[in-house]
Amino acid sequence: MKAVIISGSTRTGSLNSALAMRIAGVMRHDGLDADVVDLRDHSLPIYNADFQAEQGVPVEAVTLHGLLMDADLVVLVSPEYNGGMPPILKNAIDWVSRVTKRPFENKPFGLASASPGRRGGAGAVRALQLVLTNMRAHHAEATFSLGNARERLADDPTLDDEIGTFVDALVTHVDATPSMIDDR
Ligand SMILES: Cc1cc2nc3c(=O)[nH]c(=O)nc-3n(C[C@H](O)[C@H](O)[C@H](O)COP(=O)(O)O)c2cc1C
Repeated sequence: MKAVIISGSTRTGSLNSALAMRIAGVMRHDGLDADVVDLRDHSLPIYNADFQAEQGVPVEAVTLHGLLMDADLVVLVSPEYNGGMPPILKNAIDWVSRVTKRPFENKPFGLASASPGRRGGAGAVRALQLVLTNMRAHHAEATFSLGNARERLADDPTLDDEIGTFVDALVTHVDATPSMIDDR
């Protein structure tokens, strides 16, 4: 099973990028093929239909689209920005949706978030659920929102076990939807 994990933050020292790396580590330990995709490597202009009409879809969006299409599972790990997701992540989703029609249809997704606050940025997960439902993706019921992320990522021996439970749920989600993989 191939998983692609994307952090919705490109900040140096990002908690969500650190969580994305931890999820990838647990996945690899469990025998999955897990790649962390850095949105800095797929730098995109803010979506604008005039730009697309004049210049087409940027090659970075096409590359990102290909990476996502090749994955059996996509995990988004996103900060919460004022109850939603950061513009860089929504912008990447919007550009990818211009490469082919309904690119995420039947694609299994996992959703996670991290925040220094108590709720762990769960609002970002809810916002992503709305977007992915609209795009006919299949997001796993199990989500993972890491509160007090600074402390927990730095020093919490129970964290990998919690992430392991989340990863198990994602694998079950993909396994329960074999036709989605076959249809890819
Ligand atoms: C514009 C903006 C809005 C934010 N809104 C929220 C929020 O609604 N809920 C929350 O828990 N944290 C919020 N934060 C704090 C982020 O959770 C915190 O900066 C976090 O470290 C960002 O993720 P990162 O470390 O992966 O970059 C916000 C931060 C910014 C810059």
